[in-house]
Amino acid sequence: MTATAPRGTGAVSPGHGNGMPAPRRATITERTLRTDRWWVQPLITVVVLVLFIIYATFRAFQNAHYLSEPYISPFYSPCITTQCEGDTFPELFTGPAWISPALYILIFPLGIRLTCYYYRKAYYRSFWLSPPACAVAEPHKRYTGETRLPLIGQNIHRYALYAALVINVILFYDVVLAFRDETGEWGHMGLGTVVLLVNAVLLFLYSLSCHSCRHIVGGRINNFSKHPLRYKAWGLVSQLNGRHMQFAWASLFSVAFADFYVLLLATDTITDLRFF
Ligand code: FES
Repeated sequence: MTATAPRGTGAVSPGHGNGMPAPRRATITERTLRTDRWWVQPLITVVVLVLFIIYATFRAFQNAHYLSEPYISPFYSPCITTQCEGDTFPELFTGPAWISPALYILIFPLGIRLTCYYYRKAYYRSFWLSPPACAVAEPHKRYTGETRLPLIGQNIHRYALYAALVINVILFYDVVLAFRDETGEWGHMGLGTVVLLVNAVLLFLYSLSCHSCRHIVGGRINNFSKHPLRYKAWGLVSQLNGRHMQFAWASLFSVAFADFYVLLLATDTITDLRFF
């Protein structure tokens, strides 16, 4: 007979915590008794994320059509090597011409997306089926959580957020530069300026609404009344945090669209709509 831990002790009884049927669970042979279309959401997640990964990978390796003065694609910003087109950011080193400048910086947005608490839920369910939905058993026999390689790497999320915040600032810098015209004169505003601005705002909201950001702002204090500013900031971040999933998807679409818009301009497929 298998012993179970007393309730409330925090101890884990054998069979529990590995995602598999535990001794106290009813034994059913069906994988799920759900009759609704629970698989639609994981399927949509897979399709959208795979399409984004294909597009972003193609654009990152393309090493072309990422600048149409005064706009730079967010996939290539900051452009930090001497191989970069234009002069949008200080060149930090000489990179080989065959390495796309995007590859030096995409690791940072990739880092925050891969380790994001919301995306973990999305891709653990959709790609690993672990579990694919509530009340649907997963196909895996073992579950070790995020305590071993490679998933233990998820614990770098806080540091990925710090890097993403730096990128956020640089994207707002790109928006400021987008108020110049193609000759460098200030006082320009086109549809591209708006596209870059909306993208920068959505990416910033994605970072601000991050669970780690909420903890950084309001965590590790025992008494909010002694920290009124942090309490206020924590309240604001908490409100944004409730919409983190929406910001995650909106910013994913906006960053792809901003890149695509610059691609269309850079290849002379369209001309920018100019407001002034
Ligand atoms: S939880 Fe999603 S970015 Fe931090």
